[in-house]
Amino acid sequence: MSSAMLNAVDTFGEHFVDASELLGRYEATEQEAADTVRLLGLGPSDTVVEAGCGPGRFAQALASHGCRVIGVDISPQVVALARQRHPGPDYRVLDMADLPPGCADALVNVYSSFGYSATPEEDAEVLRAWWSALRPGGRLLLELSDLERAKARLGEEGGTVHRETNGVREELRMDWQQQMLHVTYRIGDRRLDCRTRIYSRGQLVEGLRAAGFTEVDCFGGFDGREKTPEDRLVLVARR
Ligand SMILES: C[S@@+](CC[C@H](N)C(=O)[O-])C[C@H]1O[C@@H](n2cnc3c(N)ncnc32)[C@H](O)[C@@H]1O
Repeated sequence: MSSAMLNAVDTFGEHFVDASELLGRYEATEQEAADTVRLLGLGPSDTVVEAGCGPGRFAQALASHGCRVIGVDISPQVVALARQRHPGPDYRVLDMADLPPGCADALVNVYSSFGYSATPEEDAEVLRAWWSALRPGGRLLLELSDLERAKARLGEEGGTVHRETNGVREELRMDWQQQMLHVTYRIGDRRLDCRTRIYSRGQLVEGLRAAGFTEVDCFGGFDGREKTPEDRLVLVARR
């Protein structure tokens, strides 16, 4: 089952990666990967799939811990970027809803790489595909911005939030009824628009359980700390 998408297929290419770098979003990559290895108990015999791997920075950091990493992304442009910038892991152009059954001991999906299907039902299909991609006993780590964090950062009144950091101008607008975040990034005269469906912690836990996962734990970081409203949400689930 391939999912229809909220954004054009190559939305998260070079411009998005440049903006993320300038915004400092990749600075904790090495630490987050080390924490992921601990949190999921990954070892050298484990095959880890990163679903929505983008430029491969997290896949390569995980691979430096000795596990076999396969980075999967729907965008041919993004996969070309990953092969060029972070060689080491295997990379495949593939919809994360089409992962082969039983292909992984662990699956990671980080930096808000979930919530991009055309409908919530198709997002739920993605969770089911992840469950079946894992071998029995396999672990999932999902790290993303949740509804609680969106409320803490953007306020519930509506309206657009403008920010400028290191030459990147961001415009963020949340449609609370649709649970849809619209973000525009501008660097000089380059502009990128993207949409992400934002879920609450409860909706995600329920979705993971409905997909078949057991033992779903929630944290406020890769280090396993308790979540505050401003923290991104880290979910760890077991098949
Ligand atoms: C916000 S970016 C994050 C990239 C990467 N996880 C990182 O941490 O740098 C989201 C990525 O998910 C990918 N993506 C979105 N929907 C996908 C799908 N259905 N299957 C595979 N990749 C997808 C996008 O192409 C993009 O590279």
